[in-house]
Amino acid sequence: MTKEEIKNTKTLAELQELYTSVFGKNGTMTARLKEMKNLDNDARAKLNLENTELRELFKSRQAEIETAELNAALAGQRLDVTLDAEPENRGTLHPVSRSFKEAIRIFESLGYTLMTGPEIEDDWHNFTALNTPAHHPARDMQDTFFLPNGNVMRTQTSAIQIRAMEKLGAPLKIFAIGNCYRKELDATHSAMFDQLEGLHVDTIEKNINLSDLLGTMRVFASKFFERDDVELRIRPSYFPFTDPSIEVDMKWGDKWLELLCGGMVHPNVLRNCGIDPDKYQGFAFGFGWDRLVMLKYGLGDIRAFTDSDVRWLKTCGF
Ligand code: DAH
Repeated sequence: MTKEEIKNTKTLAELQELYTSVFGKNGTMTARLKEMKNLDNDARAKLNLENTELRELFKSRQAEIETAELNAALAGQRLDVTLDAEPENRGTLHPVSRSFKEAIRIFESLGYTLMTGPEIEDDWHNFTALNTPAHHPARDMQDTFFLPNGNVMRTQTSAIQIRAMEKLGAPLKIFAIGNCYRKELDATHSAMFDQLEGLHVDTIEKNINLSDLLGTMRVFASKFFERDDVELRIRPSYFPFTDPSIEVDMKWGDKWLELLCGGMVHPNVLRNCGIDPDKYQGFAFGFGWDRLVMLKYGLGDIRAFTDSDVRWLKTCGF
């Protein structure tokens, strides 16, 4: 009877309870062993045997239950390597950052050095030195954020041209990237936007001219857009800091899209930076960078650039 009961126990607690009822202070076996002295030899031997057997049985049942419990615990922890993994939520480079990396690679391969400048600019670097003195009508071309102390949020990376020439003199070949700020906001304009600026000045004898600018832009566009069939056209334009000034369009499908602005650096600008315009000349160019990025990656709304929406980033395809 007890043997069956031992075999049927399922848990260590049950087994312990049964053990106590047999071998505990008031246990059935304990009671019988106490009466052993009254038994004859045969009966004693039988009882001894039964006693030993029962103890062994308890022991082996305990081992069985322990093993079963361990196996159950292990089974619960087993890794199912055939289950689908959680989808990985990886960040990606912002298209603007990615495009800047590419631009840096391209312009550095063309011998240009990367320069930076402050986003809060003084009037001199942002306007005056760029041949745009106070009350110059061209100041109206840019809806400037003015700071109380008269400084401005940089409206154009052209300010970095001035800093570069003041610092390095001529000849020089630099480019700059950075945020610019203007009071405008719609699907293709953001109050904070990116520009890329370039400047190449050398001695008059080197005769750097507009066709060099166009050649450079052709190389840039074919590398940046990964196309061999780049078609450009120029339109006359006006900027206070270049003369002549041009805008360069690129054929995109059956449309002409504006690619950049540029021109020959105005002698006043060189002079303002301590460079003699009778000895040096060069070209400058500026890209409204975000539009280029939208074109390259087929993006529709510039406002998404600053929305910080990871789902949008994923739609950019990298
Ligand atoms: N700074 C001009 C703008 O923001 C763009 C530009 C035009 C830059 C002509 C240049 C340039 O370097 O030569 O509208």
